[in-house]
Amino acid sequence: MSRIVYLNGDYIPEEEAKVSIFDRGFVMGDAVYEVTAVIGGKLWDFEGHVKRLARSLNELEMQNPLTRDELLEIHRELIKRNPDFIDGGIYLQISRGNAGDRDFAFPPADVKPTVVLYTQAKNGLLDDPKAKKGIKVISIPDLRWHRRDIKTVQLLYPSLAKMAAKKAHVDDAWFVEDGFVTEGSSNNVYIVKDGKIITRALSNDILHGITRAALLKYAAEAQMQIEERSFTIEEAQAADEAFFTSASAFVTPVIEVDGKPVASGKPGPVATRLREIYLAESAKTAL
Ligand code: PDD
Repeated sequence: MSRIVYLNGDYIPEEEAKVSIFDRGFVMGDAVYEVTAVIGGKLWDFEGHVKRLARSLNELEMQNPLTRDELLEIHRELIKRNPDFIDGGIYLQISRGNAGDRDFAFPPADVKPTVVLYTQAKNGLLDDPKAKKGIKVISIPDLRWHRRDIKTVQLLYPSLAKMAAKKAHVDDAWFVEDGFVTEGSSNNVYIVKDGKIITRALSNDILHGITRAALLKYAAEAQMQIEERSFTIEEAQAADEAFFTSASAFVTPVIEVDGKPVASGKPGPVATRLREIYLAESAKTAL
């Protein structure tokens, strides 16, 4: 059975969902997106994703076509209309719409944004073996543009990064700029040293992860020490633990960086505890 997807107000089978060849998302990468985790048919960190979506649109002077309540209704309707979809994520994309022809300048204000949402099933998301085993990463230069705080669909460089990781027989790539780690190809990254959780401070250099925000809040509530500062690859290799966060993997340990094991090369107690705290706390606010 094919998925039912949402396109500009309609719930339709995925084969029928068609977007113009002149759409700015297709021609210019002029679109923003969100991925909201779904566990047992419930939306995780929904409010955070809606707020970041509004911010991304605002930064790009794009209309925000849907209210929070409308977005919630669409997310829930997709879950309802795709009964086999239990765990995974809902992908949302809003582009600047169909400009009628290719042009660098933004189209007139009456051109409507293109809104697409669809489910992506990943059953057993909570039991991903990587959460128990940890993952290995390599580092590569961060060659992305400098507005990484806006969640745009310009994902060519992250795709190249994932391919570089694949060729190196590891799981992911960490970006490095001016000697410091910025973030992972699709996640925020952390090290643990002497019980302290260290992660880069928010700026235009990284995406302001929704999982990051929730995790740091829960960690602070659990009296854990947090230091928001940049760190190097050498520090990560000499750390007691490393891990990453994202809406699609929650909290996942990193056990090797550029061929060197992090501590014993096994997931550590802090990352394991943070994953437990994150899953327990976020489940409480799931919608
Ligand atoms: N990626 N940094 C980057 C570059 C990301 O692409 C992501 C998310 C994150 C983590 O953000 P959050 O915790 O809000 O998911 C950080 C999503 C999951 C993706 O592209 O599929």
